[in-house]
Amino acid sequence: MPACNPPRWKISDLDFSSIALDRVRSDETHFYLACSASFVESGSDLYTRNLVDLFAGDDEVTTWLREHWEAEELQHGRALRAYVQHVWPEFDWESAFRGFLEEYSTYCKVELLAPTRGLEMSARCVVETGTATYYRALARGTREPVFRDLATHIANDEVSHYKQFFRFFRRYREQEGLGRTRVMRTLARRTWELRSEDADCAIRHIAKARAPERAEDARYLREMSSRMGRTVGRNISPGTALKMLMRPLELPRRVEAAVQFPIEQFMTRVFLR
Ligand SMILES: [Fe+2]
Ligand SMILES: [Fe+2]
Repeated sequence: MPACNPPRWKISDLDFSSIALDRVRSDETHFYLACSASFVESGSDLYTRNLVDLFAGDDEVTTWLREHWEAEELQHGRALRAYVQHVWPEFDWESAFRGFLEEYSTYCKVELLAPTRGLEMSARCVVETGTATYYRALARGTREPVFRDLATHIANDEVSHYKQFFRFFRRYREQEGLGRTRVMRTLARRTWELRSEDADCAIRHIAKARAPERAEDARYLREMSSRMGRTVGRNISPGTALKMLMRPLELPRRVEAAVQFPIEQFMTRVFLR
C-alpha cells in the first residue's frame, strides 16, 4: 500500500497578505494563467471517477486515487481559486467555473482512457509529466513570490503523482506482459493530446465572465492563449520532461541517447503550441 503521508503543504502556508496587489492585479496574463489552472484542477474529480471505475477491484490503486491523488488535485484547485479570489475579488469565479465545467465534463469520457490498465498507467505518467513541467515553468516565469511558492508546491505534488503512477505501471506491465511498442504508442498519443484544449476551454469561460465584450473575439482569445503559451514555453525544461516521459519505456541507455534529440524537439513544440 502506498504510504499514507499527510499533505506536504496546506493552503494556510501561503501568505496572501504579502502579495503586492497594486502590481499584480493589472497583469492580465498572470490572471488568466492562475485562473485557468484553478479551473482545470478544480475539475479533477470528473476524471477520478473514470479512473476509479477502470481500476475497480484493485484496492491499492483506487484507495490511492481517492485519498491521495484526488484530494491533492482538488487542493491545487482550492489554493489557486483562493489566490485568484484574493487578488481579483471582483471576478465571479463560481459562475465562470460552472460554465467551464459544463463544457469540460464532455471531454472527460471513459472512452478516452487507454485500452488496458497498464497502458492507462503509462498515459497517466505522461499527464503528470505535463502538469509537473507546466507548474515548474509557471514558478520560474512569475515574479510574484506567493504564486511562485504555490506553483512550486503543486509541481512537487505532480512529480510525486508521476512516481506513484509509474510504480503502478510497472506492476501492470508485468501482469499484462506489455511490450515497448504498445507503451511507446500510448506515450506518443497521450503526449500529442497534451495540448491546450483544456486551457482554451478555460480561457473562453474566463473571458465570458471577465470581459464579455471580448468573449467572442477570436483574435483576442488567440492572443491571450499565445501570451500564456509564451510565458510557459520560455520557462520549460524539456530535458527533465523528456526523461520522465521516456522512463516507462526503460530503453537501453544507447537507444535513449539516440532518440533524445528528435523527441526533445517534438516536446518543445508540444509545450509551445
Ligand atoms: Fe494538479
Ligand atoms: Fe497530478
